[in-house]
Amino acid sequence: MASYLDENSRTCMCGELRAEHEGEEVTLFGWIANTRDLGGLMFADLRDRAGTVQVRFDPDYNTDALELAKTLRNEWCVAVKGKVVSRGENTTDRLSTGAVEVLAHEVHIFSQSKTPPFPIRDDTDAGEMLRLEYRYLDLRRGHLQRSLITRSRVNMMVRNYLEESGFLEIETPFLTKSTPEGARDYLVPSRVHPGQFYALPQSPQIFKQLLMISGYDRYFQIVRCFRDEDLRADRQPEFTQIDMELSFITPEDIIGVCEGMMRRVFKGVLELDLPESFERISYDEAMRRFGVDNPDMRFELEIVDVGAEVASSGFKVFADTIASGDIVRGLCVKGASLSRKDISALEDFVKIYGAQGLAWAKVNADGWSGGVSKFFDDAERAALAAKMGAEEGDVLLFVAAKESVTCASLGQLRKKLGAQLGLIDEQAFKFCWVVDFPMFEYNEDEGRYYAMHHPFTSPRPEFFEAMEEDPAAVRAQAYDLVLNGNEIAGGSIRIHDGDVQSRVFKMLDLTEEEAREKFGFLLDALTYGTPPHGGIAFGMDRLIMLLTRSPSLRDVIAFPKTQRASDLMSKAPSPVDEQQLNELHLAAKLKTKSGEEE
Ligand code: AMO
Ligand code: AMP
Repeated sequence: MASYLDENSRTCMCGELRAEHEGEEVTLFGWIANTRDLGGLMFADLRDRAGTVQVRFDPDYNTDALELAKTLRNEWCVAVKGKVVSRGENTTDRLSTGAVEVLAHEVHIFSQSKTPPFPIRDDTDAGEMLRLEYRYLDLRRGHLQRSLITRSRVNMMVRNYLEESGFLEIETPFLTKSTPEGARDYLVPSRVHPGQFYALPQSPQIFKQLLMISGYDRYFQIVRCFRDEDLRADRQPEFTQIDMELSFITPEDIIGVCEGMMRRVFKGVLELDLPESFERISYDEAMRRFGVDNPDMRFELEIVDVGAEVASSGFKVFADTIASGDIVRGLCVKGASLSRKDISALEDFVKIYGAQGLAWAKVNADGWSGGVSKFFDDAERAALAAKMGAEEGDVLLFVAAKESVTCASLGQLRKKLGAQLGLIDEQAFKFCWVVDFPMFEYNEDEGRYYAMHHPFTSPRPEFFEAMEEDPAAVRAQAYDLVLNGNEIAGGSIRIHDGDVQSRVFKMLDLTEEEAREKFGFLLDALTYGTPPHGGIAFGMDRLIMLLTRSPSLRDVIAFPKTQRASDLMSKAPSPVDEQQLNELHLAAKLKTKSGEEE
């Protein structure tokens, strides 16, 4: 017997119907989003991934269809045949199809649905845990569908753009040796080699460099990366990079390719013309003016150094801080109505980042008031006001601490105030390159240096000769692309000289044996005619999150993990049976919190 689909095919998508389709006979397939039975007359909203259209079942048009329609429930999967008619004065902006409806003369039920555990609507108030458990239902919601459609389109645009720009798409392995991107590895035990493990790649970094040595010139890959790190709204344990590597290039060339790619994507998705070239600031300047290496350039509120102005002030905390070689910086919050309670909440906030306190003063018509104002004489007030651009109505906020704490606390405070005081233009997209990162980062707890980007990043040439003398001063040929305060890409020019690479490993406290053990194949490869090369990787999920104005990465990933790296739907991770462990030559030995074995 012929099936329904043998004899009927879809004429168009529900969400595509517009006034110009009036009078057409259509066959639609979709899900019942809701029904409204008005006694004689009945309406149903029919949804597919393109959108939703209203269907009218009218006793004056077709009673069979109406009778069957009365049995329909939400989320049933059905076919509807009917005529596209105008909604006349009932036209609505609620639906993109709001000018028309479908006057039905046939309904076919493909399958019924249990009552879903939450209503499937954009404005659902169901908790995220429940929605993640029933992700396949959550994914029926319009916002998620539109996000994933955008993501698919961006994939295509990026592929086309990079192909036109001379890139080859080459896949690299997932079962690999550990790559040093600074997070913990996800390990995969080997059945064939008892006691040995693969690491899932934190990025294809080493492979893409090897491809340059092999002469592939320009590589890209839209590739999954795996990092076992503390998760936040903008971090997932598996995420996707638009990864690239290029030979015989300067940082300018890479920046040019990336800006062109962003222009293509923003034009394609949002019809937005981005500037020919994006703003650039050095890491040092970003830290000084914005306190963070991912500054949000959508609003001003810059951090100001007031060391010189407060060095001999009567406020002991400031004077002592300067005397001990640390720093005092502040923010001038324009025309802010911050109550004492607000300021005290801000003080608690900066303490999270290590600040001892938050000193403040209000600038009034008749002088300063509140907080630390009493410690400053007229000359000091005038000097501070001039430095900070303070005017009547402003509130001044200060932190005195060592540089890293001052930057972090005022940098985060700046971001918080931007949101809290509505300083951010939510419609804007502000890109900025942060360049000249430090090469090394000192870990005080461990008393050693780490690579700030990764150990294959090249120092700027002027530091080659004497980088061992003052590691903290060495600047790298590394750059990040920041969009609205989010790091969306990071890359660098690589070391293409085996000697320099060995010296860098040594500065990272890797012995020659350890370096050989971990990256011997790369060190060997570097001795076989390595082209100068460099690259970058975009966080695809972050880019799509920003493009779709989604609050979380979870909104742009079909099957994301929770903050605790679980998949609530499939219940991964989960225990495995004894036999699987045996085959892998493993025994699960769980430790209790106190470290004892169970
Ligand atoms: P990096 O580690 O900076 O560089 O990563 C590149 C970009 O990937 C995104 N990203 C993430 N997105 C979601 N969840 C995560 N856990 C996560 N971690 C990183 C960020 C980041 O800018 N191999 C180098 C690139 C290179 O040097 O070419 C690398 O992986 O947007
Ligand atoms: P105290 O004299 O300790 O009560 O501090 C007076 C004000 O100075 C309070 O508003 C504190 O928050 C602030 N304060 C204390 N230490 C610091 C610091 N290191 N940086 C900025 N403000 C501080």
